[in-house]
Amino acid sequence: MRGAPLKAAVVGHPIGHSQSPTIHGHWLETTGIAGTYEAMDLHPDSFEADIRKLVDQGFQGVNATVPHKEVALAIADEVDDTARRIGASNTLVFRDGRIHAQNTDAFGFWQNLVPQLHGQVPQRAVVLGAGGAARAVLVALQDAGVGHVILANRTHGRATALAEELADTATIETLTWDDAEALLDQEAVDLIVNTSSRGMKGEHPITCALAAQTPETVVNDIVYSPLQTALLETAAARGCQTVDGLGMLLHQARPAFQAFFGARVSVDAGLRHKVETRMGLR
Ligand code: ATR
Repeated sequence: MRGAPLKAAVVGHPIGHSQSPTIHGHWLETTGIAGTYEAMDLHPDSFEADIRKLVDQGFQGVNATVPHKEVALAIADEVDDTARRIGASNTLVFRDGRIHAQNTDAFGFWQNLVPQLHGQVPQRAVVLGAGGAARAVLVALQDAGVGHVILANRTHGRATALAEELADTATIETLTWDDAEALLDQEAVDLIVNTSSRGMKGEHPITCALAAQTPETVVNDIVYSPLQTALLETAAARGCQTVDGLGMLLHQARPAFQAFFGARVSVDAGLRHKVETRMGLR
């Protein structure tokens, strides 16, 4: 139907915590595009059938969040290269009855970081955590040409398994968590990224002193609740450049909005303020 509002949604289980309706709602408002973006709780048992119904109902696509990101990849008719390498999809785009799986988390991570890099690609990076978020971060670092990546995780075997899985396209060195903390006290690196849930509200903070880090070191915590984690506070006290995690959440939504509603959008202070307020971060 020509002129009917374009429809998209975020699907998860549960879904109440999702900020995606606020983010896409902001852009629908600022662009004036006639569209809707809603939150839907889809049960894992009927995920594929429910998604096919949305295709039939003329939706442009959906964002997938926990626990659907891996199965979203599995049910897609086509999978883009980034989503395949990450092993998960956060964006399903529907075209001509077919489901295309994308992953915009690597894009979001890198776009959030770029303004702090002043045109320099980090040569030596330490990534903490080896879960789903780490996969997107590692793929982004690989695509950006970061030469030397060191991966550390509480469960060391998970870090080595992930490094092996990505070994075709990237060389990733692994360390135990304690050895990574010791390294950060002894040698300066260009970039430190925490992708683990350590430091999140209710979890233990990261207490590493970062003793060897310098004002050239960029420290990014992808945890955004709280916005200022202990890791970022330590980094700031050392004079390092710090990047909080909320920007990744905002930037990852940009390619999805463009795919669903056809307009390029940017992350501005108004959007950030709206999301911070809704999340009680300010
Ligand atoms: P996500 O998709 O957000 O990355 P995930 O796949 O559940 O979530 O991964 C959580 C990450 O946080 C893992 O790297 C986990 O370490 P383990 O593999 O050892 O479980 C890490 N993590 C969670 N709690 C942690 C803690 N208290 N200290 C250190 N790492 C922690």
